[in-house]
Amino acid sequence: MDLLKTADAPELTGAGDPASTIAGLMPFTMHGGGPLIDLAHMVCAALTFDIPGDMVDCGAWRGGASFLMADVLRRADATDRRVWLFDTFEGPPAPRPVEGPATLVSTQNTDTPGYYDNSRASLDDVRRTAARLGVAAHIRIVKGWYEQTLPLYRERLGPIAILRIDGDWYSSVRCCLENLFDQVVEGGLVIIHDYYAYDGCRLAVHDFLSEHHVAYPLESVIGPPADQLERAVIRKGKSTWKWLQQLYLTRQDIAAVIPSGATFALVDQQWFSDQVVGERRAIPFLERNGQDWGSPPDDETAIRELDRLQQAGASFLAIAWPAFWWLDYYAGLHRHLRSTFRCVLENDRLIVFELQR
Ligand SMILES: C[S@@+](CC[C@H](N)C(=O)[O-])C[C@H]1O[C@@H](n2cnc3c(N)ncnc32)[C@H](O)[C@@H]1O
Repeated sequence: MDLLKTADAPELTGAGDPASTIAGLMPFTMHGGGPLIDLAHMVCAALTFDIPGDMVDCGAWRGGASFLMADVLRRADATDRRVWLFDTFEGPPAPRPVEGPATLVSTQNTDTPGYYDNSRASLDDVRRTAARLGVAAHIRIVKGWYEQTLPLYRERLGPIAILRIDGDWYSSVRCCLENLFDQVVEGGLVIIHDYYAYDGCRLAVHDFLSEHHVAYPLESVIGPPADQLERAVIRKGKSTWKWLQQLYLTRQDIAAVIPSGATFALVDQQWFSDQVVGERRAIPFLERNGQDWGSPPDDETAIRELDRLQQAGASFLAIAWPAFWWLDYYAGLHRHLRSTFRCVLENDRLIVFELQR
């Protein structure tokens, strides 16, 4: 079953139609399409950029998000990585006052669709679904309270690339962080689903970070449709989750429109070209002797240099989002590109022109 068409590592092709493919997972997760697509991209990014380690899902429930991660591993033939599912499959512990008054009131309301039988799930169903989706070999299921299972399994887990914490309450979130945060590798991600939903979850994160003097920034993920604060992510590393996502998607964009083996001019962004070019050669624009030569003094120089690179074999020009200011600043170059060449891709990350008149 094709859960996510984008997940053909090492070079995943285009965005496809993830919404329709992820639709097959909806009965097995409480999450909407946005967080799931982001999650699939993060697993792909971990594979593409060699962020080592397994994926750990604390709060797997019916398994949908875990299956999605496992499907990415399956497609990439990443047999050395696993997705670990931790859950009681019998629901979370009873909420305590620390979860906040609004949460305590909402948990009394057992008639809403969001109650989900107090998050109970059948372990047999989870196993059956994993087998039906063809991802059973890529997952490991550990049933029980985090407080008992995580200390037991911590060593066996080893390095973690992505730690998802979706355990609702203070004690559960705190327990996941206490046991597993240190095992998340440099560059890896900790995704905290309930950070904006529950006071207790937020407090658990703040208490953990402060008591352990962890200085990594907490990044907010804003989700559509209403620009809601949806999740919080900690990326252990120098750059953010958002940056990792942009790099990964830009690499996919390039792979979708510039053929493997082609040479292209990349405007002003040599500092990350290694991570986005894949099986292509990027020449800095501007360049001298293969080295980045900085920004042009004027439009005429830029157009002359573009002609030169074209004659030297560059068949595309790509402008990534950090260089979009060129389009306003070098308005003459911009007009020249639009009037002379076909724009083969344009989105909020990348613009690519094919350099054939
Ligand atoms: C909101 S649900 C998770 C939803 C799921 N991630 C999804 O994709 O829809 C929270 C889950 O965390 C589990 N959970 C919470 N606290 C736990 C604990 N201390 N030990 C084990 N499981 C726990 C619950 O049983 C429940 O299945």
